[in-house]
Amino acid sequence: MSRPTSARIDFAALRENLRTIRRQVSAARVWAVIKANGYGHGLIPVARALSEADGLAVSSLEEALLLREAGIHMPILLLEGLFEGDEIHAAYEAKLELVVHAEATLALLESTPLLWPRLWIKIDTGMNRLGFRMHEFPDAYGRIRCLSATAPGLMTHLASADQLRNPAVEEQLASFERVTRGHPGPRSLANSAAILQYPECHADWVRPGLLLFGVSPIPGQLVESMGLRPVMTFATAIMAVKRVRKGDRVGYGGVFEALQDGWIGIAAVGYGDGYPYHAPSGTPVWVGGRIVPLAGRVSMDMIAVDLGADPVSVGDPAILWGRELPVETVARHAGTIPYELLCGVAQRVRHDWVDVPEENANHAETVDRLSL
Ligand SMILES: Cc1ncc(COP(=O)(O)O)c(C=O)c1O
Repeated sequence: MSRPTSARIDFAALRENLRTIRRQVSAARVWAVIKANGYGHGLIPVARALSEADGLAVSSLEEALLLREAGIHMPILLLEGLFEGDEIHAAYEAKLELVVHAEATLALLESTPLLWPRLWIKIDTGMNRLGFRMHEFPDAYGRIRCLSATAPGLMTHLASADQLRNPAVEEQLASFERVTRGHPGPRSLANSAAILQYPECHADWVRPGLLLFGVSPIPGQLVESMGLRPVMTFATAIMAVKRVRKGDRVGYGGVFEALQDGWIGIAAVGYGDGYPYHAPSGTPVWVGGRIVPLAGRVSMDMIAVDLGADPVSVGDPAILWGRELPVETVARHAGTIPYELLCGVAQRVRHDWVDVPEENANHAETVDRLSL
């Protein structure tokens, strides 16, 4: 028997989530954000499953070229632009759309005589991460306009769209509107949280990542009400069942103490698989049809769960997150965000793609190489 730890990826849910998001954003086009190995779901299979998107957005040339090598011809946007000057020709030949966010890249592009089909300019409207400052925008826009065959795309990123009616978001939207007024070009502002909470900024292109995977970017809010379904089920099996007596301690450091006689289950998953080490005792785990609490510290390959008075059998399924147990809930217990849990599923975890389009079978090797 091989180690039972797996990430099951449901493509039907992924495709359906994309359609649901589309209905929500009416006429806006969709950049499907699939960086970080498709948020841990597998870059190439996810890209293929999202062929109905208007384009794919990734964070590096390397990811974009893997998509092209896999025969994916959809528009691809490099969200963070180029990191080195020597990436310019490869990006151009691969027909990528670049985000230009800083003077250094703009100067590099100007020193290379190429006419790009479309470039995007990123404007820092208040997040203070990437982007031209607002006073730099008119000059940068004019220069980028000269480098591309079409009007530059106009982009910004919102720092706090996960909070409803946050004045900082309103300010960013107003700044974007003010600075870009009179400058032609498609506009893009909305990540997953903004798609849900700020419909006024759907504009021409939305950029959902997490929502595609059926996970909520809004703390304390699940996505089921929107009709979205979780795409990943992170699962394993019970590999041992132990009787414990009141006062027995379980796992490293003995931090869990049995308060009465009962049963402990050992499941084959640990931080070496991407289960969060910081998940404390009490974090929910789905075991054989019921939710039970994590018991004690997470090991590299194993966790213990408190089964109380009702043991389960070796081989019974355990689900760490998925439809049965939202990853948002596990993240909250572990003091992290669902993004980190999804992206952190380890390379050694087998990915099972369900409803995989035929051609993905040939790309299993590339995907394995890419898995985080
Ligand atoms: C510029 C940009 N747009 C969109 C996204 C997608 O964000 P989300 O997964 O919250 O939808 C990201 C992800 O971090 C991003 O960096």
